[in-house]
Amino acid sequence: ERPPGEPPVEGEEPAPVPSAVDRLAARIPPGFVLGVATAAFQIEGALAEDGRGPSGWDAFTAKPGAIAHGHTAETACDHYHRSGADLRLAAELGVDSYRFSIAWPRVQPDGRGAWNEKGWDFYDRLVDTMLEQGLSPMATLYHWDTPLPLEQDGGWLSRETAQRFGEYSAEAARRLGDRVDRWVTLNEPVSVTLNGYAVGIHAPGKQMLFDAMPAVHHQLLAHGLAVQAVRAAGAKGEIGITNMHAPVHPAGMNLLDWVHARVVDLMVNRLYADPVLLGRYPKPPFLARKFFHALRDPRPEDLATIHQPLDFYGVNYYYPARIRSGPGPTPDGVKPTKAMKNIPFHLADFPEYASTGFGWPISPEHCGVVLGELRRRYGDALPPVFITESGASFPEPAQSDGLLYDDERIEYLAGHLEAALAAVEDGGPAAGVDLRGWYVWTLMDNFEWAAGYTQRFGLVHVDFETQERSPKASYYWLRRLAQGRARRE
Ligand code: NOJ
Repeated sequence: ERPPGEPPVEGEEPAPVPSAVDRLAARIPPGFVLGVATAAFQIEGALAEDGRGPSGWDAFTAKPGAIAHGHTAETACDHYHRSGADLRLAAELGVDSYRFSIAWPRVQPDGRGAWNEKGWDFYDRLVDTMLEQGLSPMATLYHWDTPLPLEQDGGWLSRETAQRFGEYSAEAARRLGDRVDRWVTLNEPVSVTLNGYAVGIHAPGKQMLFDAMPAVHHQLLAHGLAVQAVRAAGAKGEIGITNMHAPVHPAGMNLLDWVHARVVDLMVNRLYADPVLLGRYPKPPFLARKFFHALRDPRPEDLATIHQPLDFYGVNYYYPARIRSGPGPTPDGVKPTKAMKNIPFHLADFPEYASTGFGWPISPEHCGVVLGELRRRYGDALPPVFITESGASFPEPAQSDGLLYDDERIEYLAGHLEAALAAVEDGGPAAGVDLRGWYVWTLMDNFEWAAGYTQRFGLVHVDFETQERSPKASYYWLRRLAQGRARRE
């Protein structure tokens, strides 16, 4: 074959010059899963319909001042009524898989006891539609919407929540286990602990700082019980967990910045990964030992439950963190809570990187750093990896000729996929990691937690007044990526 771009030989068609997206498509290995991801609370709406019970997030969004502009998820993307059209949008991308979450309060309103058949019917149809559309279902069992009665009884501070989560997971596997290809137990437990229980910018809005540690242990226990339950139910799919990872750097060359960076690194990158992958909690740096007091001497049988063999490990990577000592501005433009003012460090800027709509630094290389750190730390204890979320929010895209030009998102996504693929190649910083797939966060603009509808992460634009969906340029970019790769095989 003639290399692309060479002058044509007499009588032959000139070889097309591949564009950047085609070159990237050509680097995607056969069998690599491309997908898009969503989460129930962020898109479904219909919070009081067909027997769904309230979640901790329903209660939190009702608190004055908790969410930007007082937004709620009452309607969100109205996905509960539009799931058919939304799955068609996902399928027309030509991607392989759709990651969604099951809203626990929709299928078990009290978090214990009776099942809500209408709730299960919705997910039953959803999974069937995915399969009809050629999308492999990846189901997340917990994407932050704890049934309110459980939250009121302590939520993740209570050991009981882990037991109940195990039962709910068993039922999900009984109902959907013949069709779901991959299960994710928990999504980003670190975000739930930190944002929800330590500083209070997410549900349930507790501000316990380091006293929130029991939420770590009970979520991990819930994960282990869910893995056991899903397998015991005979589900055909693979199972793993999704953790958020972020390389952490001290901002300055001083002891305090260094210690604080170590503490954040431990909390973000190891507290939920070491127990799951190695069966033990990490050892905190000497100066920070007192903060991790609550995790000392866990019951050995708990660690055995938490340490289940996994079929895959899910990574959400968004940005690297720089830690500077002393109080600082609130990240995400979110209203600071009292607890936040008592944290002795903050996220510092990365002046060398451009940033997203959220102000998050854009650094594709650090995606490779995350994968490399996982490989170095866990070696062969690291199962195959899926990047279960990758994406960014940007302000409303420029419009021209009816198309929405979100070029920054295309650049962000292309850069991150390419960095991930390059990192795991021979000689790359994460060589040896078995990277199996990459999911874009997210299919469509949605309810971005404390930021309400002010941060748009979607490949598809949503007009929240009319519910009109309009694919952005990044949607067409991903479609071409998916198709370019398909042609090659
Ligand atoms: C990770 C969370 O899983 C998802 O729900 C959220 O929307 C994105 N981060 C962006 O903040």
